[in-house]
Amino acid sequence: MKLISDKKELLSYLQSPKVKSGTLGLVPTMGALHSGHLSLVKKALADNKEVVVTIFVNPTQFNNAEDLKKYPKTLDDDLALLKTLGESITVFAPSVEELYDGNISSNDYAFDGLDKVMEGEYREGHFNGVATIVEMLFELIRPDRAYFGEKDFQQLQIVNRLSESLPFEVKVIGCPIVREPNGLAMSSRNRRLSGPMRDKAKLIYHTLKEVRRMFGTENATTLHEYVSGVFAEEEEMKLEYFQIADVQTLTPIINKQKNRKYRGFIAVYVEGIRLIDNIALN
Ligand code: PAJ
Repeated sequence: MKLISDKKELLSYLQSPKVKSGTLGLVPTMGALHSGHLSLVKKALADNKEVVVTIFVNPTQFNNAEDLKKYPKTLDDDLALLKTLGESITVFAPSVEELYDGNISSNDYAFDGLDKVMEGEYREGHFNGVATIVEMLFELIRPDRAYFGEKDFQQLQIVNRLSESLPFEVKVIGCPIVREPNGLAMSSRNRRLSGPMRDKAKLIYHTLKEVRRMFGTENATTLHEYVSGVFAEEEEMKLEYFQIADVQTLTPIINKQKNRKYRGFIAVYVEGIRLIDNIALN
């Protein structure tokens, strides 16, 4: 495994015959790696000859300075985990200055409203920051395939749209959500939860599964009321949003249509830590 923090060094490695002779997979991350991230890396290794994993806490996608400051940084542990997966991994872990060249700002994108709902509504500017860094990485690394988790389903759809609009011909591959044994979706933020709350937070997935069970017979209003009711009972949890949306347009469901696919999306504060999850409903 190689560790590179310099753009020039990365570019020269990517030009080497060893890399050029096969396909290249990219797995962008912000580090603090867990089995969810590793599932993306494993898929990338299965599909490609070489894989670049980026570890970069991207400042422009944080709308909350405190959240950015508290974001876990565990580079040594991350490298040890990646080492167990194989030799054909290159880790690119640049500094903010190296990647942004002194101009730490995001571009302005339009994604047909995909970026305006749910995470976009509650995290102003978040998806402009995500799209800026993803475009930068696609342009720099020019992978054949790039891997993103369904854990951040809205991000996955936005990156799909972004990639279609760019000239780099990157195939975006979505990967299923990896969960802790109790059902809680794995997240770098989970390690900030106290032991008892990490267990209680399983209620998020449990509630989504209940919604999936009821989706065939109940209307959206009833399901919204059900979810609000569940979290109203919980002192340490605060529901930020629950939304049932069309998987392609991400617009909220109005009347269920037979030929459309829907997902339930949720954001909950647990001990002040913001957790998100989602589930396929049909
Ligand atoms: P990060 O939160 O580190 O996640 C990196 C990738 O891992 C994302 O594609 C995310 O969806 C995926 N992932 C996280 N938890 C997962 C889980 N439990 N199961 C499956 N996949 C999971 O998402 C970002 O970083 C950033 O926004 C980034 C795309 C790197 C841009 O800065």
